[in-house]
Amino acid sequence: MKLCSGWRRLVFCLPLIFFLHHLFSVMELHQESRVEDRHKKVRNKFDHLVLGPAAGQGLHNRLQCQGVKALNKTHFSASSNRGYVGENIAFVTVFTIYNSSDMSKTSGSSDVTTVGNSSYNKVERSIAILNVFINFIQVAMPQSNVVILSDPASDLSINRDKVSIYPIQGEYSRDKLMLQRIRSYIAFLERKLEDHSRDHMHNYIFVDSDIAVFDDLGQVFHDYPNFHLALTFRNNKQQPLNSGFIAVRGTYDGMSRAKVFLQQVLEVYISKYTSASRMLGDQLALAWVVSSDTSFDAKGFAKAQPFSKEIKGASVLFLPCAIYNWTPPEGAGQFHGMPLDVKVVHFKGSRKRLMLESWNFFSSSSSVADMLCLILSSGRTKYDF
Ligand SMILES: *[C@@H]1O[C@H](CO)[C@@H](O)[C@H](O)[C@H]1NC(C)=O
Ligand SMILES: *[C@@H]1O[C@H](CO)[C@@H](O)[C@H](O)[C@H]1NC(C)=O
Ligand SMILES: *[C@@H]1O[C@H](CO)[C@@H](O)[C@H](O)[C@H]1NC(C)=O
Repeated sequence: MKLCSGWRRLVFCLPLIFFLHHLFSVMELHQESRVEDRHKKVRNKFDHLVLGPAAGQGLHNRLQCQGVKALNKTHFSASSNRGYVGENIAFVTVFTIYNSSDMSKTSGSSDVTTVGNSSYNKVERSIAILNVFINFIQVAMPQSNVVILSDPASDLSINRDKVSIYPIQGEYSRDKLMLQRIRSYIAFLERKLEDHSRDHMHNYIFVDSDIAVFDDLGQVFHDYPNFHLALTFRNNKQQPLNSGFIAVRGTYDGMSRAKVFLQQVLEVYISKYTSASRMLGDQLALAWVVSSDTSFDAKGFAKAQPFSKEIKGASVLFLPCAIYNWTPPEGAGQFHGMPLDVKVVHFKGSRKRLMLESWNFFSSSSSVADMLCLILSSGRTKYDF
């Protein structure tokens, strides 16, 4: 694993000693200031890592931690260097930066944030998140590609191996971004269908750029050979499906049925949920399309096991969020800790700092399991971005 090669050494690879020292001082500080924090917590988000107890303690099939040291071996330590992992898989994400006059307006000193040795203004930190997204993918699945669907008008440039920018015309303003995201996915699938006879086949995984991939996801296509598209679910009546992870088999059938499925989601979004919060409309629409299918029984969501269903002509594989879209828990901690075989972590909302901190930690420790302990212990904390 060439973790610290090239430009990353410059940006991310802190000497271990410095890092541990820093981490411990943060943890000590945290102990001392816990009482103080309790008052601040109500209003303020943190601008540094805050570690607390890890959820899931004592549960047999959940990761057990002592501080940021994992007591269990996760499967990763043995398998992270298998080579050829991710061949024929492309991760597709929608990403845009808001233009440079916006940037200068918002980059006053109060907007500068520091993670490890690097400081970022608002635009720089969203680029940093995109880079960390790519870093984790390239560690876990070095043969995979990343495709960034972006506004042709944005001056995004990312110079990374196996990463390409794919412009798609659309309306990328912040309040339309969720709608645009589905439109971009559909447009992308349409173009890939046109090229299909010429193109060499790829399976696609459409993801938010605030996720981190820790294991080979090619296994999903291999182990479940019959699905057209795969979605992630959780046992939550209001929002059973998360739209941050959608896998599409790169066959003609897979892509065309996924396209039709997403078109239905888009129609429902526009007709029923445009007034919903800009973050939730697509998830509500996704859930509506799935649960309005007469054959669907929501009982399947109660148990965190994969299952398949024909929905509107597509064979849909449902994968548990606990493994394929794990989110650091809020409040009651919906997943009761972290499964040992978690493959994807989603740093939703104000958990983005934790994503950058996790990469920072990983690049100096090279231990996924220990990094998972860092994420788990930090999971209930809200950060400033
Ligand atoms: C990070 O900062 C520390 C302390 O200032 C320094 O010793 C170290 O060399 C820096 N690391 C990188 C990669 O710049
Ligand atoms: C994980 O580690 C804990 C503590 O060492 C141990 O009790 C538990 O059995 C381990 N779980 C698995 C599945 O190995
Ligand atoms: C950039 O943003 C400003 C302010 O929001 C806007 O007036 C301008 O038209 C934008 N430029 C481009 C090229 O989008």
